Amino acid sequence: MLMTPGPTALPPPVREAASEELLNPDVDPAFADRYDALLRKLATVFGTDDEVVVLGGEGILGLEAAIASTVAPGDRVLCLSNGPYGDGFADFVENYGGEATLVGTDYDDALPIDDLERTLDEGEFDLATMVHCETPTGTLNRLGPALDLFEAHDVLTVVDAVSSLGGVPVPTDRIDVALGASQKCFSAPPGLAVCSVSDAAWERIEARDPDSLYTNLLPWHDAEQPYPYTHLSTLVVALSAALDVVLAEGLDAVYDRHREAARVCRDRGRELGLEPFPDPERSSPTVTAFSVPGQATELQARLHREQEVTLSTGLGGLEDDVLRVGHMGYNADVEKVTRAMDAVRAVR
Ligand SMILES: Cc1ncc(COP(=O)(O)O)c(C=O)c1O
Repeated sequence: MLMTPGPTALPPPVREAASEELLNPDVDPAFADRYDALLRKLATVFGTDDEVVVLGGEGILGLEAAIASTVAPGDRVLCLSNGPYGDGFADFVENYGGEATLVGTDYDDALPIDDLERTLDEGEFDLATMVHCETPTGTLNRLGPALDLFEAHDVLTVVDAVSSLGGVPVPTDRIDVALGASQKCFSAPPGLAVCSVSDAAWERIEARDPDSLYTNLLPWHDAEQPYPYTHLSTLVVALSAALDVVLAEGLDAVYDRHREAARVCRDRGRELGLEPFPDPERSSPTVTAFSVPGQATELQARLHREQEVTLSTGLGGLEDDVLRVGHMGYNADVEKVTRAMDAVRAVR
């Protein structure tokens, strides 16, 4: 049983869609129709009127494309962080010649809003980055206070919502580039990065005219030709079917189901003496990271070998210290979480 925080198990309609006869994305009008439908469904799940782009590559491609497209050499970028993906944005910025100012804190802390305010008061920034759900630590960040400050200082925002979109409401209408990926709460196979891009962000990208190729968002901003390269048609069809599943249930019901699965996961953990790595108030409805210092690798191996349950360990220095249960998308299911936690009890 796959209970990792992405990829998730696939619902049956998604598996069926992934085995359909291939459509040629360059010549078959049926593909163009299905692609348009996918964009409409994504806009609904994102809750945005902004243009949505579907890149052929996994989530990290979206993160890199957002930075490659919006950051020119010398641009000043504020990277707000309390986790490995938040820190990683600063590396992308530096790689593309930008000047990154990392406003960070410990991985089990809340976003450092006071430091952010001070830093914004002291300097000028072209862009800011942050992460909604830090999957490696199971933390869901409150974006509102940071977005208030970025808006007040007129700073464009790039937000990694890879493991929250489709499982938790995301304030996409306040974000310039919001990033997602197919294999998290949408429960489609890995391989597509999705993002919404505001008009202000497009203006910035056009002004910069990025010279990167595959990470350049500009070729995707063309009404005549919505995808510039042979699209990953099987993955497009599968993601479209996955969003049908989400939308048929209704977003509010989906969000409730995530909250309930998370609650059951943490209650069962508490019975076993396991506490979430972040403050429970900040634990994400999509993933629980239990604190198991020095034991995560061994527990993961035993769960896989003895219980046929696959969970994840940590990242970014927490490799052996957290054990992560993904309860996102199709796996945000009380029965599955209960089975996974029964397995954890058996190996503790
Ligand atoms: C918060 C976050 N951002 C980005 C990524 C990168 O996604 P991918 O593994 O699809 O490249 C992940 C993957 O787990 C993630 O959890």
